[in-house]
Amino acid sequence: MVLPLPATTTPTSSSSCSAFLSRHPNGFTSSASEFSNKQRRFIRKHGPAKISATFELKPPPYPLNALEPIMSQETLEYHWGKHHRTYVENLNKQIVGTDLDGLSLEEVVVNSYNKGDLLPAFNNAAQVWNHDFFWESMKPRGGGGGKPSEDLLKLIDRDFGSFEGFVNEFKTAAQTQFGSGWVWFAYKDSRLDVGNAVNPLRSDEDKKLVVVKSPNAVNPLIWGYYYPLLTIDIWEHAYYIDFQNRRPDYISMFMDKLVSWEVVNSRFENAKATVEQMECEDERKRRQEEERFTIDEAPANAVFPDTDIVSE
Ligand SMILES: [Fe+2]
Repeated sequence: MVLPLPATTTPTSSSSCSAFLSRHPNGFTSSASEFSNKQRRFIRKHGPAKISATFELKPPPYPLNALEPIMSQETLEYHWGKHHRTYVENLNKQIVGTDLDGLSLEEVVVNSYNKGDLLPAFNNAAQVWNHDFFWESMKPRGGGGGKPSEDLLKLIDRDFGSFEGFVNEFKTAAQTQFGSGWVWFAYKDSRLDVGNAVNPLRSDEDKKLVVVKSPNAVNPLIWGYYYPLLTIDIWEHAYYIDFQNRRPDYISMFMDKLVSWEVVNSRFENAKATVEQMECEDERKRRQEEERFTIDEAPANAVFPDTDIVSE
């Protein structure tokens, strides 16, 4: 998902549950997550009689030569101008007039994943989403690299031992992904979301940072409760013009010079805020259930405040 500028607005992470957010099927929310805001930038053109042809190719949030000398203009002309463009064009052809027409990009990704029984649109939809997210993960004009925010760094230290430990794990994952695919740094909010779960509620131990690989077009949207923070495209078309077969060099330069930690920090804050709001929602439902149970179990002659008070 490409933005003209990286998202820098961070929702307030408050313990208050006052601001309720509607939940995306995969756990994202419609207002706390940057992803939902960004998806709206995929402008839909509604025809007079039916919804048709939907997504547009968005440009990277910087000029095509802005990642040089690490990622050349020629690479972006092919990678964005041809590969990414083709994904968008093919996606529009595949979904026009189908049940997917008119959905957000994220919804198309999740619905066309179809619990592993992929619909034809999945690969193109996911690749559009992945590339938008990838372009926005990088900082132009040699300004990338460095380190994340203090908050994120603390969690990285907890979950990877150190920042260097995280970088090594990310690089190793990217180097060892067989064939084409992606590597993701994500905030994982695991919850056993099944009816017979022993403990279906979240715990602090569940909320952790992870590095995961995905083949071909697959991305964490389909897993639910994963909040992507950073990704690297390890399809050969991402690096072959500039690095030929030297994938490890491409990965190192990406981590050292291109990663926009400002964007990653913002995504991390959004993810935490979203998770917090969902916890509030769970708590509210739990209390509602308790109150309902209490009322159901109460003696028939019980008097409840505010209901049986009679003024004299
Ligand atoms: Fe790509």
